[in-house]
Amino acid sequence: MAEQLKIVGESKEERYASLLPQVESVLEGEPDQIARMANVAAMLHETFHFWWTGFYRVVDNELVLGPFQGPMACTRIRKGRGVCGTAWAEARSQVVPDVDQFPGHIACSSASRSEIVVPLMREGEVVGVLDIDSEKLSTFDETDRLWLERIAEII
Ligand code: SME
Repeated sequence: MAEQLKIVGESKEERYASLLPQVESVLEGEPDQIARMANVAAMLHETFHFWWTGFYRVVDNELVLGPFQGPMACTRIRKGRGVCGTAWAEARSQVVPDVDQFPGHIACSSASRSEIVVPLMREGEVVGVLDIDSEKLSTFDETDRLWLERIAEII
């Protein structure tokens, strides 16, 4: 049984640095992807209290909702659609300071104002995305992108 999450530090950088080794330790020895995603969504949520933190998996050429923390969300997203579908199509992270300025943004929740989506890669293919929404504008920056890409690599 994993120990309780202990996050130290005030800055975002310090909090991610304190979170990362705990993510590694919780995932160690667990091969099931859903279980891994479920704990990572919970750990990110507990650390940062974002509005919505979760995963979509590529299933039959669509993004299908996976483990998440936050309000209910859209179940399926097509390739190239919204921020998630764009991260999948382009196989790269999307940092969106204002979702209203992102063409084709899919509003699962009207409270969401900014968003970051990081693709999960396996053998050069996108197999899912990590999606985080904030109810405030410009929540995410390069610091989030770098750390979340590290977390995505571990998953
Ligand atoms: N806003 C996302 C859809 C997923 S929800 O935010 C959970 C998008 O545009 O892809």
